[in-house]
Amino acid sequence: MFWVQKVPLSNLVFAVHGRMTSIPFQLFLWASALFAMVSILVGVVRTGISPMPSSPRAVQRVLQYVVPPRAGSIYELGAAWGSLAVPLARAFPDRRIIAYELSTIPCLFLLLRVRVSGLKNIEVVRRDFFLDDLGKAAVIVCYLYPGSMDRLSTKLQSELIPGTVVVSNSFALPGWVPEQKSQLKDLYRTKIYRFIVEKESGA
Ligand SMILES: C[S@@+](CC[C@H](N)C(=O)[O-])C[C@H]1O[C@@H](n2cnc3c(N)ncnc32)[C@H](O)[C@@H]1O
Repeated sequence: MFWVQKVPLSNLVFAVHGRMTSIPFQLFLWASALFAMVSILVGVVRTGISPMPSSPRAVQRVLQYVVPPRAGSIYELGAAWGSLAVPLARAFPDRRIIAYELSTIPCLFLLLRVRVSGLKNIEVVRRDFFLDDLGKAAVIVCYLYPGSMDRLSTKLQSELIPGTVVVSNSFALPGWVPEQKSQLKDLYRTKIYRFIVEKESGA
């Protein structure tokens, strides 16, 4: 049986339990934006940090500091929208970039960005990186916050092998001595750190 109902062209039409329903397109857009904002806020509460991207200058300096000491993957801890993961994948086409991101919307955006860019060497992992062993990394890259760096400091000391490079945007690893450090001439005087895991403890 067919039936016809007059619906404004600006409406979206759905079938709910077999019944045709329509909602104004504008309402759909507002509801989607609200859902995205709430989802990002939930991510901030879970991880303690917003998905704020590295600035283009910071990305350039991080790329200069990433000098892999041996074969192996580059792990990005908290990749958000891919502002670092994508340039890393382009700069190191022969390396696998393992991009961890817990927050749903940035993670979906990153998956889409990877698909559109056609890059084959990025693996997006929607997981808390604190739950995984990071020992296989040749390089670790991160832009987190002080509380996270505290936890990470102990974790990396016990898991990374000597020679592994750690590059951090903005925050140092407490107890570690940077092998290289610089301050950008930007609004926030952003600091970029490069650490190398030493033979005994990495500190
Ligand atoms: C400041 S953003 C950095 C984004 C990106 N690295 C950049 O430099 O452009 C930090 C990201 O780390 C993610 N994050 C924080 N803790 C995490 C965890 N334990 N596991 C996975 N992702 C985490 C947050 O969701 C956020 O998107």
